[in-house]
Amino acid sequence: MLHTLEVMFLRVYMAIFKLVTAVLPFKWPQTFEGADSSLNLINHMATQGHKRVLIVTDEMIVKLGLLEKMLAEMDKAGLEHAIYDGVKPDPTVAQIEAGHRVLADNDCDAVLAVGGGSSIDAAKMISARAKNQKPIIKMTGLFRVWRGMLPLYAVPTTAGTGSEVTIAAVVSDPEQQRKLPAMDLKLMPTAAALDGALMTGLPPHITAATGMDALTHAVEAYVSRNAMSRTDERAIEATQLIMRNLETAFDEGSNIEARQNMARASHLAGIAFTQAGVGYVHAIAHNFGARYHVPHGLANAIVMPHVLEYSLPNAAPRLAELARECGIGPADGSEQQLAEAFIQKIRDMNTKFGIPSTLESLQERDIPPIASAALAEARFTYAVPRYMDQGAAEGVIRQMLPA
Ligand SMILES: NC(=O)c1ccc[n+]([C@@H]2O[C@H](COP(=O)([O-])OP(=O)(O)OC[C@H]3O[C@@H](n4cnc5c(N)ncnc54)[C@H](O)[C@@H]3O)[C@@H](O)[C@H]2O)c1
Ligand SMILES: [Fe+2]
Repeated sequence: MLHTLEVMFLRVYMAIFKLVTAVLPFKWPQTFEGADSSLNLINHMATQGHKRVLIVTDEMIVKLGLLEKMLAEMDKAGLEHAIYDGVKPDPTVAQIEAGHRVLADNDCDAVLAVGGGSSIDAAKMISARAKNQKPIIKMTGLFRVWRGMLPLYAVPTTAGTGSEVTIAAVVSDPEQQRKLPAMDLKLMPTAAALDGALMTGLPPHITAATGMDALTHAVEAYVSRNAMSRTDERAIEATQLIMRNLETAFDEGSNIEARQNMARASHLAGIAFTQAGVGYVHAIAHNFGARYHVPHGLANAIVMPHVLEYSLPNAAPRLAELARECGIGPADGSEQQLAEAFIQKIRDMNTKFGIPSTLESLQERDIPPIASAALAEARFTYAVPRYMDQGAAEGVIRQMLPA
């Protein structure tokens, strides 16, 4: 356990952090929702006086034909475009610079991201790069995107990161095995479309992993000490939607209602964690992901039950409330029973999705550096319910060693 004085210091620091967050002027994106709402977004963009729009996406989205209707709508509306489709999962500085070259060569004055969190994050940094004459790495960290970004529109095709409604963009640095988040109010998209029709071809394993990422956002925001009533409402609705729709979306990919509900859940969870923050699940998962190249959602899904179990002594009442809101566990169960039932439900979902409770590539010798990097990430950023010291973090991570 951390020294009592240190815990007190962190609690006071986080209380101040919460007050600051509560008054930050978030400018939430205008949101279009429903099947084919991406076309409403295109028509909205056409009224904004842009000369040429850069579409930032990945090759898979192009190959699946997910851009076609949007491109036809752009042509109809007289909106010119160029395409950069070089984004790969966990975008790097090199991909962002390549995207920026396409933007500059085509004289684009707005950006449309179509894809998962990787495409949206890359698009944020490409837009920011167009306004800030400094290296991408220098824009990572807190509030370092000084000159803002070009107008950015987002169409998420996973549900997901919620990046269409967050002030974050995660940049990967493969050489240093690091993931560097940039966080700045100026990274908020201008408008977004939650179009479940674009998600019906998402393969089950990506549906599961990205859905568990959204669940992690909702749960970590709800158990955060920085949770507020406005984040609680969103976190609860997101958790309910995920508990009621993720398994259906996994089983029946073409179920448009389940897809649309998951798109909404991911969005609401994004609003919740933008204000209340995430926690140790993300801190550990980011460091797994950067070292072993585990997809973000999958890493979160593996880590979440272990961290929630550790957090139980302080988080049981909040986890029990989530269980009650979702009808999980015995109606007359104690707080402890309900909280445990909630964690068990997450384990059961992982089992159904074929997500293991251990991480195949995890090595004993990597545990101390992963633990210290996770603690460093969390220390002044995440208002976690129960703090870990180095030993506790290593203990939690060690539970994920393959047998
Ligand atoms: N900015 C934020 O607030 C935030 C929050 C959480 C995570 N992230 C970051 O987002 C990234 C992960 O994003 P992600 O989980 O959405 O995955 P992703 O964007 O990396 O996409 C994963 C895979 O799914 C494919 N795909 C996407 N949509 C598809 C569709 N509709 N049909 C078929 N295939 C499709 C992609 O081609 C890709 O191969 C990570 O880098 C993570 O760190 C950002
Ligand atoms: Fe996440």
